[in-house]
Amino acid sequence: EMEKTLAIIKPDGLIGNYTDDIKRTIVEYGFSIFKEKIVQLDQATVEKFYAEHSSKCFFSRFIKYMTSGPVLVMVLEKDNAIADWRALMGPTDASKAKITHPHSIRAKCGLDIERNCVHGSDSPKSAQREIPFFFQELSADVIGEHD
Ligand code: CMP
Repeated sequence: EMEKTLAIIKPDGLIGNYTDDIKRTIVEYGFSIFKEKIVQLDQATVEKFYAEHSSKCFFSRFIKYMTSGPVLVMVLEKDNAIADWRALMGPTDASKAKITHPHSIRAKCGLDIERNCVHGSDSPKSAQREIPFFFQELSADVIGEHD
């Protein structure tokens, strides 16, 4: 079934010039880039988008990281896009990914558990929230897509 997911290339990805590599991988693996834009996140937006992590001990440092430079936000489309994009990204901890998933994007572009270079929606429910969070014009589209 055709599916959309929200992907973000985080500040370390953009600053490290990994964007072209990551986009080439995305297209190679059969995703189409349905929407994309570069955004400079601020503290309030990070707090809202990552609300579920707001009580974690790493959150204030995470805000600094996510606001340290622009991010590239994309809507990717493909059969099974949500699970396939997460598989392509690799595990959250990029330093472990280098050992266990050496071909994953996080292994190649990320550094550690925080600076892991990319984000992807973790479920259809998350995708339904995250896509219109950044692309309001897709609200109706996303609601109509499931159930
Ligand atoms: P992501 O899974 O996209 O969303 C939550 C982010 O918080 C995660 O990527 C990491 O960038 C960061 N994160 C998760 N766990 C930790 C941790 N233990 N320490 C620091 N950052 C973390």
